[in-house]
Order: sequence, then structure tokens, then C-alpha cells
Amino acid sequence: MQSIAVIGAGTMGCGIAQVAATTGFSVKLVDVAPGVLEKSGQRISESLQRLAKKGVLETSAVDAIQKRISASTDFGLARDADIVIEAVFEDESVKRQTWQNLDAICGDKAIFATNTSSISITQLASATKRPERFIGMHFFNPVPVMKLVEVIRGNRTSDATCASVTELATKMGKTPIEVNDYPGFVSNRVLMPLINEAIFAVYEGVAKPEAIDEVFKLGMAHPMGPLTLADFIGLDVCLNILEVLQKGFGDPKYRPCPLLRQMVAAGKLGRKSGQGFYKY
Ligand code: CAA
Repeated sequence: MQSIAVIGAGTMGCGIAQVAATTGFSVKLVDVAPGVLEKSGQRISESLQRLAKKGVLETSAVDAIQKRISASTDFGLARDADIVIEAVFEDESVKRQTWQNLDAICGDKAIFATNTSSISITQLASATKRPERFIGMHFFNPVPVMKLVEVIRGNRTSDATCASVTELATKMGKTPIEVNDYPGFVSNRVLMPLINEAIFAVYEGVAKPEAIDEVFKLGMAHPMGPLTLADFIGLDVCLNILEVLQKGFGDPKYRPCPLLRQMVAAGKLGRKSGQGFYKY
């Protein structure tokens, strides 16, 4: 694989594009919103400068990395990519439509990988005519820092696709871990009930957010407590994933805390909106 198309230039898409370009791949970054695409250049540049300042990257390499990324609002840019990694808005109908469009544009041999955090890979693959070459490649935020890629096999994903994506993740400097396609995979099936329970603890007055987070930082050596992490991920994203878990398993243990629903309805979405459990 030499050429990687990344669809969606938000936080995750930019991070994936940056890491792919840093590890030598030619990257095509596509977003249908021109404003988002414009911001992506600055976002990637700031992250690269930060890594250069820390000495993780040579300052002289920054320019060459950025030049390996070409950007467009036209899906046609992904036409010749060996693999397409999709990181668009976490909504099943938006993702299905995106994959249908790409299926008509990209070469038959191209692998399709979705960065969904919980939507069924098997279900998304059914929007295309290539379910054997369709797979989940779940990166973690901040992508330049977090080592994991959760590789999720759909029901019809071939061994060859899984092997190619595992090799790619390794070349991108990440550690791939293979899991099967059930709601939330492993990461969010385990993480979201923890975050939800922490929110229940606030809701029931067990402790303040600061106290709950300190318990996890000092007692369990988590880099961020669960409520700081929820703000970092986005409370709307957490709610969305919990709903996928609740619906997918039909089990009330995943029911989102009413406080989480209320905060999302009030527009308190965490860091990105300036307020969540904390003010930013
Ligand atoms: N680009 C480049 N470098 C970055 C960066 C970025 N966007 N963000 C952080 N860094 C680097 C910093 O330069 C710094 O480098 P050094 O260690 O060499 O100094 C390092 O990361 C730590 O950053 P900071 O000093 O600014 O802050 P910190 O020590 O508080 O760490 C953190 C920040 C890395 C985010 C850390 O708090 C952490 O690991 N938090 C947990 C993050 C996590 O759990 N992410 C997964 C979320 S779940 C998800 O993404 C998937 C999902 O489906 C919901």
C-alpha cells in the first residue's frame, strides 16, 4: 500500500492523515465541507510543530510531511487510493451514503476501512459491493499519541484484508489488536459503561466530578479521570455510543444516565462546546 485516502477532516481524520503522511504514505484528505478542510491544514501543522518542539520529529521533516497530504472537497481524489479510511460524522446513514459513493468511485481492489467507534462493521459493509474488503480500523484520540488501532473484522471480512490492514497499522507506528464485530467492539463496550457509571455517581450525589476524576487518576493511574475523558471525547459522542450498546445488546445495563441526556440537550458537549463537566 502506498496511497491512503482519508475521508473526513475532523479531529480523527486529521490525526490519521498526519500519522499516515509522517510514516511516508501519500495521503488524499477529503471533506465535503470547505471550511473543515481549510482548518485541517492548520490543525495538522500545529500538531506537527508540537511534535517537532518535543524532538519527536525533525523540524526539517515537517514541510515534507505536509506536502505528502493533498486535500479536496471532491471524493474523486480517493479514486486511485489503495485503501480508504473513513472518519466522517458518527451516524450510520451518513456513513452508509459515504461508502456507497466511494464504492462507485474507487478501484475494485481498494480496501475500505471505517474508523467508526461503535457502528456495526458488517452493517456498514453491506452498503458496498466489497464486504470481503471492508474492515474497521478504530484509531484513538489524539491519534499522533495513542498507540492502539482496534482492527474489527466484519462477518464477511477476508483474512487477506485483515492481514493488509494489520500490516498497515504497524507501518503507521501503531499496535493493531484484532477483535470481532459486536456493539462497541472491546474499547467502547468497556469504556462507556465506566464513563456512564461515573456520570451516575455525579447524578446521585456520590461525589463531585473533580473527586471522581482524582479517584481514577490517583487510585488507578488513569491519565485522565472518566469525566475529563468524557468531556475530551464529547458528551454527544458518549451518548451516541451508549445508545448503540443499549440497542445492539437489548440490555438495560447500558442505559445512558439521565444527566448525560440532559447535558447533551443543553448543548454542554464537553471541550468542543466550552462546557461539559468542566469549563474550558
Ligand atoms: N498532537 C501531537 N502531540 C500531542 C497531541 C496532539 N494532538 N496531544 C498531546 N500530544 C503530546 C504532547 O506533546 C505531549 O508529549 P510529551 O509527553 O512528549 O511531552 C504528550 O502528548 C502529553 O500531552 P500534554 O503534556 O499536553 O498533556 P497530558 O500529559 O495531559 O496528555 C493526553 C494528554 C495524551 C491526551 C493524556 O491525557 C491521555 O492519554 N489521555 C487519555 C486519552 C484517551 O483515553 N484517549 C482515547 C479516547 S477514546 C477514543 O478516542 C475512541 C472512541 O471511540 C471514543
